[in-house]
Amino acid sequence: MNIQENISLKNYNTFGIDVKAKAFVEINGLAQLQKVLELKAYPDKFILSGGSNMLLTKDIDALVMHINLKGITVLEENDDEVIIKVMAGENWHDLVLWSLNKGYGGLENLSLIPGNVGTAPIQNIGAYGVELKDVFESCAAMEIRTGELVAFSNDQCEFSYRDSIFKNEAKGKYIITSVALKLSKTNHTLNTGYGAIEDQLRKNGVVYPTIKDISDAVIAIRQSKLPDPMEIGNSGSFFKNPVISRKTYQKLKKHHPDLPSYQVDEDQYKIPAGWLIEQCGLKGERYGDAGVHEKQALVLVNYGNATGLEILELAELVQKTVSQKFNIHINPEVNIIK
Ligand code: EPU
Repeated sequence: MNIQENISLKNYNTFGIDVKAKAFVEINGLAQLQKVLELKAYPDKFILSGGSNMLLTKDIDALVMHINLKGITVLEENDDEVIIKVMAGENWHDLVLWSLNKGYGGLENLSLIPGNVGTAPIQNIGAYGVELKDVFESCAAMEIRTGELVAFSNDQCEFSYRDSIFKNEAKGKYIITSVALKLSKTNHTLNTGYGAIEDQLRKNGVVYPTIKDISDAVIAIRQSKLPDPMEIGNSGSFFKNPVISRKTYQKLKKHHPDLPSYQVDEDQYKIPAGWLIEQCGLKGERYGDAGVHEKQALVLVNYGNATGLEILELAELVQKTVSQKFNIHINPEVNIIK
């Protein structure tokens, strides 16, 4: 087991924040993971996967376990459906491409989301009308305290918008080691309802879309407004879209007839935080190397050498400005490590 000391995590988080880990180890197998959890020399452990949904604001005074478990296997299949088991360290978008290559449907709308498979359930990743929970069968997770493997069904994960049990009661207690997904082999359910997808398919001259066409459309949309973490450090949407009451919505709509919204239920509306931030004049603003992305205000970026605290300060400024102008509080969706 190769434990390295005093390692920079800059290349292990998509924000590209340069903090140090006291110690660092690559986890390549379940037995090794169990052994590492038992190590007395490093009582404090920190789990790192794709590093795509976290903001590191200080050095990590713990043993960082980089989850590098790999492999995709078919668990069950019939003529119509297949259940696959994917190890936590597989890259999410590589999995999407693998599934499209096999002709399996279900993941196409979730193309190009940064991060790894093991972290997808934590925030129930979602985009363009589809969430992980729509294809999720179950996941296996190792309990940190006991080293025991347990299974979580779809229901047990308590998925909701960018949320799951792993951000609540189960937070910090488990390491997700694999995820099982149910995908279609025939009669794919195509989710083209999201306006931007329809527009992009039209642009691409597609009339009867295949799952690959949808993936191509999603990739084109994402590439047109979301920064590539390989070029500019970021963590995707920094904030969740706030949900407001019908009364607040109606008041806001009166003053801003162009207000975009998604109706959640009879009494609640979800408002794009990106729109609120743009209305505050913050889109494209830059403070040193920390900035609000110029094409999608929901995304905070690191132009090079911003520290985690500088990004956090900017996030707090954004929250305060939105709150002062609209009296709406926006919450981070990114996991802030303080
Ligand atoms: N908008 C603005 N200004 C902006 C950004 C957005 O006015 O700077 C407006 C757009 O014009 C549009 C509306 O807000 O009318 C919605 O924008 P968009 O379609 O880009 O989606 P979003 O609500 O901002 C959410 C997800 C994204 C996901 C897209 C597409 C959250 C927090 N974010 O963004 O997820 O890709 O929908 O489904 O729900 C992520 O989680 O990292 C992520 C990128």
